[in-house]
Amino acid sequence: MDADENTAITRVLMFPWLGYGHITPYLELAKKLTTRGFFIYLYSTPATLRCMKQKRKTFSHSIKLVPLLLPNLRGLSRRFYTTNGLPPNLMPKLKEAFDLSAKGFSYMLAFLKPDLLIYDFLQPWAPMVAKERNIPAVEFITSSSTMTCFMFHYFKNPEEKFPYSEIYFRDYESSNMRRLLDCASNPKERDMASEGVERSCNIVLIKGFRDIEDKYIDYVTSLVGKKFVPVGPLVQEPIADEKDDGSSEIFSWLEKKEKKSTVFVSFGSEYFLTKEDIDEIAHGLELSKINFIWVVRFPKGENGRNGLLQKTLPKGFLERVGERGKILQGWAPQTKILRHDNTGGFVSHCGWNSVIESMNFGVPIIAVPMHLDQPINARLVEEVGVGIEVVRDRNRKLHRETLAAVIKQVVMEDCGEAVRQKAAFMSEKLKSKGDQEIEEVVKELVSLRNLETRAK
Ligand code: UDX
Repeated sequence: MDADENTAITRVLMFPWLGYGHITPYLELAKKLTTRGFFIYLYSTPATLRCMKQKRKTFSHSIKLVPLLLPNLRGLSRRFYTTNGLPPNLMPKLKEAFDLSAKGFSYMLAFLKPDLLIYDFLQPWAPMVAKERNIPAVEFITSSSTMTCFMFHYFKNPEEKFPYSEIYFRDYESSNMRRLLDCASNPKERDMASEGVERSCNIVLIKGFRDIEDKYIDYVTSLVGKKFVPVGPLVQEPIADEKDDGSSEIFSWLEKKEKKSTVFVSFGSEYFLTKEDIDEIAHGLELSKINFIWVVRFPKGENGRNGLLQKTLPKGFLERVGERGKILQGWAPQTKILRHDNTGGFVSHCGWNSVIESMNFGVPIIAVPMHLDQPINARLVEEVGVGIEVVRDRNRKLHRETLAAVIKQVVMEDCGEAVRQKAAFMSEKLKSKGDQEIEEVVKELVSLRNLETRAK
C-alpha cells in the first residue's frame, strides 16, 4: 500500500435499518470513522434522520444525512417511517415499503458514487444493487454474534442440533425459537437472508468483541465463509449537558440515593410491554424494596394520552413506592443513567445495545428478555457472568416474586457479589482496550477500497 492509498478520503454510504437499536451503532461507527479521515453519507428516512438530530443535536461536518424517500403505501403514514414508536402491526408494511425502495437506492448510488457501502442485514438486497455498480459492500450486523451464528446454523443445517445448546435450551419450545426455526426452514426467507451476505458482500462487521463471543464468531465465520470483523462496543456517548435533555430532575433525585442502590428499568426502543408484564414488573419492583427509575413506553400517539400511565400501572402503585421510584414516559437518557455511580443494576430486555452499554458501564443485568435475539442475549449475559435471568414459567409468564428476588440478589445480596464483580471487571477490560477493534476495521475498509480502486 503506498502513502496515497493510506491518506485518501474513503467515502462510505451507510444504510442502517430504521430501528433506534440499529441506527445507534451505525451512528457511533460513523463518528469513529470520521475521526480517521472517512466521509460518511447516512441514508435513512426523513423521520429517522429527524429523530437522530433531536437526540444528537450536533453532527460532524464529515457526516452528511441523505434522505431516503419511501414509496407511498396505503395504511402507512409518513410519520411512521421509523420504528421508534411504530405500532407493531405496521412493521410488515414498513418492511415492504423499505424493500420497494431498491430502485431509488440504485439511482442514489449512481449519483453519490461512494467508495464503499455499509448496510444492515435486514436489507439483503442492498449489496446486490451495489455489486451492479461495482461498489464493495460490507454487511454490518448489529445483533450479537451468538444470535447471528444461531441463525446461520439453522439456515445451513435445519436438521442438526445447535452445538452450543446451553445458549437456547430454556426457550427451545417457546414461540420465539419456533419462529426462528420456521424461518430457517422456509427456503425463501433463508435464501433472502443468506444470499446478500454470502454472495454479494465482501466482509462482515459485527457489533461486539472477541473477549465474550470468541467461539461464536469462529463458528459463524466457518458457516458463512466470510471474514467477520468485530467493531468493539460502540457505546453512545452520554450527551454532556444534562439540563438539555429534560432529565435534570431525575438526576437530582438519583444524586440523593446511595452508591449502586438503584436499578434502571428499560425495555429498549421497539417493543411495548403487555399489560400483564407491566403489572408483574410494577409489583416486582415494589416487592424488591430497591430504588428504581423505570421508563415506560406506549405506541406513538399514546404516550401523551391523559392518565394512560396511571391506568396501566397497578392501583395505588405510585403512591406506595413514593420517593423510592421514578417513572419516565417514552424515553430516558439510558447511557447517562447507566454511567451514574448510584445505578447498581439494569432490568433489561437484553437488546444487544443495552447489553453492551451495561457491560461498558459495569452495571450488572437483571435479564427479562422478550422477543427475537433477546433470550439468546440473556443466555450469553449469564454465560459471561455479568447478569442473571428472571426465568419465566413454562407459559412464558413473568412472576413478580422471581423478579424481586433476582433484583435483590444482583443489587445487594451477598450471593450476587460474583455478578457485581464480573460486571465491574468487564467494564475495566473494555476501557483498557480503547479503540483496538476500530483500528482493525479501518484497516479492513481501507484495503477494500484500495483493492477496488486498483481494479477500476
Ligand atoms: C432492537 C431489538 O429489539 C433488539 O432485540 C436487538 O438486539 C436490537 O434492535 P431495541 O429493542 O431498541 O433494539 O434495544 P437495544 O438494542 O437495547 O437498543 C436500544 C437503544 O436505545 C440503546 O442504545 C439505548 O441506550 C437507547 N435507549 C432506549 C435510550 O437511550 N433510551 C430509552 O428510553 C430506550
